Amino acid sequence: MSLADRFTAWRNRLVSDPKFQAWAVRNPLTRSLARRKAKTSFDLVAGFVYSQVLLAVVELRLLEIVRTAPLGTLKISERCGLPHEGALRLLRAAAALDLVREQSDGLFALGEAGAALLGNPSVFAMVRHHKAFYRDIADPLALLRTRRTDTELSRFWDYNASATEQDAEAYSALMAETQALIARDVLEAYNFSRHRSVMDVGGGLGAFLSAVGAAHPTLGLTLVDLPPVAKLAEASFAGGALQDRIQIAPRDMLREPLPEGADLVTLVRVVHDHDDRAVRLLLSSIRRALAPGGRLLIAEPMAGFKGAEAMADAYFGLYLWAMGRGAPRRPEQLEALLNEAGFRDVRILRTAQPLLVSAILAS
Ligand SMILES: C[S@@+](CC[C@H](N)C(=O)[O-])C[C@H]1O[C@@H](n2cnc3c(N)ncnc32)[C@H](O)[C@@H]1O
Repeated sequence: MSLADRFTAWRNRLVSDPKFQAWAVRNPLTRSLARRKAKTSFDLVAGFVYSQVLLAVVELRLLEIVRTAPLGTLKISERCGLPHEGALRLLRAAAALDLVREQSDGLFALGEAGAALLGNPSVFAMVRHHKAFYRDIADPLALLRTRRTDTELSRFWDYNASATEQDAEAYSALMAETQALIARDVLEAYNFSRHRSVMDVGGGLGAFLSAVGAAHPTLGLTLVDLPPVAKLAEASFAGGALQDRIQIAPRDMLREPLPEGADLVTLVRVVHDHDDRAVRLLLSSIRRALAPGGRLLIAEPMAGFKGAEAMADAYFGLYLWAMGRGAPRRPEQLEALLNEAGFRDVRILRTAQPLLVSAILAS
């Protein structure tokens, strides 16, 4: 046991002692730290309620309602279609979570956390989508006992070459809605202009490639996805500025060879969806398809990045478990898989917001 481990064990014995807790909160020197720690513990206990308050706020479009001008509870209850008492209870809860703010005149305005959420509207699509995740996770032990394929999330993410476009539409739309900030961070983290042509594998409706294509007007663009998604992507590019620049390849990336010749392949939020066996197949297939000297860029939320631990291992860990396959991986796990597929030079790229996306480059 290292010195740090021994210290942690001693600290934990102390912190779990009710007498120490009572002392720490009364001692002026430790009081503010003790209160902060107690709040963190309480947030863990009550987090599911906060999420449901947020869901109600999103479903009622409460942030949009108070965005332009502060309003009184009667007006808000009318606009939300909630009885006055229910609206007031929700407003107070939302104010406690900084989503809205109660002014001294009793009107409710936007809170700082609410304003930040309005700046990233794709979060709202995720919050609505979480209803399905919430049902899957209601009994966490039942979920964790075995890797199930009868969950709502596994039905939602139906990666199936013979699925219909309707089956693929809901998950493709959700991915497209939540892509903007990811693309921005990836484009900042890596200089695409050194490449001739990029192939985005598992590219969905092409939101990522659209951002890449707009930022780099001479880059060749290829999108690979399952046939139903590729059809939807074709429709979404039809008549647009990139229609003549983009090749769309309907392909099952795990069963069919990939189009050859790109000198950059991107996998954005793709690897974490799959177990190691599928990832090995995919990486080897990409290695074969890449032009000599080509590179692979993997971008997705990863485990092991400071400040993003809860998002990766708690949120995505459980999300992907409920989905029935995949896991958030640490860079060293990805590096091992990349090495097995023949990639030798692997490096981490710094991204602005590892909570959203981290990136690894391999050649
Ligand atoms: C989580 S989504 C990410 C989409 C997009 N890259 C993004 O970040 O918005 C994963 C994508 O991989 C695609 N996909 C999953 N399995 C696939 C397969 N076997 N062959 C081709 N595409 C696949 C899905 O259809 C989906 O579009």
